[in-house]
Amino acid sequence: MRKSGYNPAMKLIHQKIHNWYKEHGRLELPWRTTNDPYHIYLSEVMLQQTQVKTVRERYYFPFLEKFPTLKALGDAPLDDVLKMWEGLGYYNRAKNLHQTASQIETLPQNIDDLMKLPGIGKNTAHALATFAFRQPVPVMEANVKRILCRLHKMQTVNEKKLWAYAYDLIDKAKPFEYNQAMMDIGATVCTPKDPHCEICPFESICQGKEEPTYYPAKKKRVVPTREENVMVSLYSNKLSLSQRRGKFLHGLWGFPSTEVPLCASEYLGEVTHVYTHFKLVCKVFVYDELEKAQDHYFTLEQISELAISKVDEKIVKLYSATMLE
Ligand code: ADE
Repeated sequence: MRKSGYNPAMKLIHQKIHNWYKEHGRLELPWRTTNDPYHIYLSEVMLQQTQVKTVRERYYFPFLEKFPTLKALGDAPLDDVLKMWEGLGYYNRAKNLHQTASQIETLPQNIDDLMKLPGIGKNTAHALATFAFRQPVPVMEANVKRILCRLHKMQTVNEKKLWAYAYDLIDKAKPFEYNQAMMDIGATVCTPKDPHCEICPFESICQGKEEPTYYPAKKKRVVPTREENVMVSLYSNKLSLSQRRGKFLHGLWGFPSTEVPLCASEYLGEVTHVYTHFKLVCKVFVYDELEKAQDHYFTLEQISELAISKVDEKIVKLYSATMLE
């Protein structure tokens, strides 16, 4: 592939990608129809670990309604931000957004400066540079990686080579549409299983099209299981929760875990939740206190106002189902 100068073959591919995007792309995604860098920044951070459907239908608009500007976000208490993030997981994302918002008035445009902000790595910095500031640089999310691996028959992912391929391939005349199209082609055409090569704009130059699902090779990942005993302490029908201080789920309210459950406690059941690096299995115990022994107690209605994690939400559900029947 030629690196510079006029390349008719490349021009044709760019034209095909552009046509495909105009006809099949998700043009209406709300972060694609705005020029506001803060809105685009929020969407990219939400989309780091969450699917488009969830972000679009449940989180993006309520968050922006509550915090319409970077300044409004920076001025808000972290607890309010975490509450709007509740259920999205990976709560460090919300804390990093809040920290950035409280420290700067406008986002920098330069990739190196963007990467100095907490929670913004190379991929997100490139996405912001191209989507918020229309720079001719490529994006590199999972769907794009798959396309590039297949185009170049790359089984073992080599990040450095991928970035070099991505910079070679980008349509510098229309970087915004090109990059959005790459993500959409990856999500709907060059899919992990059963890709639709016959309608792919890259079909004529794809080296991996004979056996596309070989690229990249699948990683077998086994996540370890972590077991915890969790105590739900009750006092006059209210539940005790405390705000987490450790690194894991920091800032969210939750039920504490304990080495050995109190012998007078009752076993309620088990809840599980799968995180990226481990599976958490919680054995839940409930203990009715005779005297008030904790700092904070909440009714179920009050708990619904707190920012709590998915596991703690499951524990509340288990409690409601078993104790309040
Ligand atoms: N994932 C990350 N950025 C995205 C975008 N702009 N559109 C769709 N999915 C994305």
